[in-house]
Amino acid sequence: MSDQTDLPEHVARNRAHWDELAAQHVAPGERAWADNDPKWGIWGIAEAEAKLLPDDLDGLDVIELGCGTAYVSSWLARRGATVTGIDNSPVQLETAARLQREHDLAFPLHLGNAEDLPFEDASFDLAISEYGACLWADPYKWVPEAARVLRPGGRLIFLTNSALRLLCEADDGNPIGDRLVRSYFGMHRVEWSDDDSVEFHLTHGDWIELLRSNGFEVEALRELRPPEGATTPYTEVPLEWARRWPSEEAWIARLREPA
Ligand SMILES: C[S@@+](CC[C@H](N)C(=O)[O-])C[C@H]1O[C@@H](n2cnc3c(N)ncnc32)[C@H](O)[C@@H]1O
Repeated sequence: MSDQTDLPEHVARNRAHWDELAAQHVAPGERAWADNDPKWGIWGIAEAEAKLLPDDLDGLDVIELGCGTAYVSSWLARRGATVTGIDNSPVQLETAARLQREHDLAFPLHLGNAEDLPFEDASFDLAISEYGACLWADPYKWVPEAARVLRPGGRLIFLTNSALRLLCEADDGNPIGDRLVRSYFGMHRVEWSDDDSVEFHLTHGDWIELLRSNGFEVEALRELRPPEGATTPYTEVPLEWARRWPSEEAWIARLREPA
């Protein structure tokens, strides 16, 4: 594992946050590593439904941005990809490294900030993030970095909270409701009163502009709907809500090839 010093303020805060939260993510990480079928997001939506991954992963060089316990990387490695994980939390990476040993599936894990990647230009064919850097790092910093380390034609896939969910989520600890309680315009850095973490959310228009200005074409915006009867350990989103409105969204973009 490599280290980086002089972290930006929000990155240092999120490192402390995730080092503390890591213990809660051990059991979910163990379950996801043991399950060879990708299941995405807080509702565990099957890949056949979510359709996030390319049909053929064999031989692709993949970077997972904010890999946490690295179960997404494990799914991709078992499908023939050459994966690398990077994460800002040493404690999350300790779990990832233990699970690698237990599953006899080794790949490089880097301690680092997705806003400042320790990789050469054009090193990867796919960059992926499930509630990782795409939620906890500044998009105006990590998206240009993802573009830099991808090869022309490479894909960026990320899954995060929907913009709509954030608009309906008051900072009062209660589940989200059916009213807009935040401003849409100007959405970017978001902090919560009950912890010290920093999240980032953009409007759809701003995501498209940011992706396009960094050389990406948006291929899909998948607004994920949990199946009837789905469950989640997260209490913020009632199933009835997520069956009516998207609580999660996944972006699939492709880096333009030179003309
Ligand atoms: C929710 S976990 C994502 C991993 C896994 N897909 C999951 O859903 O549990 C969020 C991860 O993002 C990492 N993270 C936060 N900010 C980051 C940054 N700037 N660069 C890299 N990783 C970051 C955290 O350390 C944490 O392990």
